Amino acid sequence: MKPCATLPLRRRGLLQGAALAALCTTQYHAHARPAITLRFSHVVSEATPKGLAANRFKVLVEQRTEGRIAVQVFPNSALYGDRDEMQALQLGAVDLLAPSLSKFGRIGLPEFELFDLPFTFESLTQVRRITGGPLGQQLFDGLSRQGLIGLGYFDNGFKQMSANRPLLAPEDFAGLRMRIQPSGVIAAQMRALGARPITLGFGETRDALASGVVDGTENPVSNFWTQGMHQVQRHLSLTDHGYLGYAVVSHQRLWQHLKPSDIAVLQQALRDALVFANDIADRQNDQALAQLRASQTTRIHHLTPQQRERLRLAVQPVQDALAQRIGPQWIDRLKLELTRTSSG
Ligand code: SIN
Repeated sequence: MKPCATLPLRRRGLLQGAALAALCTTQYHAHARPAITLRFSHVVSEATPKGLAANRFKVLVEQRTEGRIAVQVFPNSALYGDRDEMQALQLGAVDLLAPSLSKFGRIGLPEFELFDLPFTFESLTQVRRITGGPLGQQLFDGLSRQGLIGLGYFDNGFKQMSANRPLLAPEDFAGLRMRIQPSGVIAAQMRALGARPITLGFGETRDALASGVVDGTENPVSNFWTQGMHQVQRHLSLTDHGYLGYAVVSHQRLWQHLKPSDIAVLQQALRDALVFANDIADRQNDQALAQLRASQTTRIHHLTPQQRERLRLAVQPVQDALAQRIGPQWIDRLKLELTRTSSG
């Protein structure tokens, strides 16, 4: 397999990323001579469920192949950020990504935004049953339209809302510029609350909050804490209003060239890493919340059931927005799955 850095790249950003990757490859290879080097790029800190999962995958692959397959992990948008990572993958400049499910709409796969529907999932267990069932598989089948292959789903957790004023009722969102991921469903959610959605890359969000380009945002607490957003947001509401999860994806070209025995090792290592990630996701978010509480930078608001219900009612129109965007058949499929997987 050709090293990624030798493949033709079109954009300056991609060239910079490839140059960084080439540098890291040289350093790594000084002590080992892997036959295959896979580059895994992501946008979050290493101390998040995704960061830890990527590192665990690397360790497992290298152990199980005795270093014949190496995995280089580039966290924190060090190689590519939200804007260019999918393109980098399609061009072969990286081999593995784990974008949030909210980031597939921008490459023509808006049906992944089903998972952005607010107040829809009762638990992470339920989401896992859905991603592990026929709907999760159908979504992965669609990735081939973009030359991609889906290798596994995993969780971060549920999102919370932050700003420099308390967000307890729909009125509190009026006029706020809220940073969002590039998802039509999340944009509709923010509009339904009276806020103005602003799409920004994850790596740019903390600075945009600090400089006042945006007023608030939503994320699970582990992302909020590890990006230092608590230093620039005075209020966090524990709304648990929406899910944030990921799909590990690669490009078909790479998988067509790998030996079946290598594919088996990679798939098993990934399965193990994702089980580990799902096991620790809740703990990472709880730990980040404890650290946030101790830091006293940000007031943490627990919503009453009535306050949460008012938010839920305010975002009801989002289902229609999604049905228009991706077709009502996907909503119907989701409804079926929600019934099949409900614990109640
Ligand atoms: C991530 O967890 O990968 C980033 C989520 C975001 O962009 O808000």
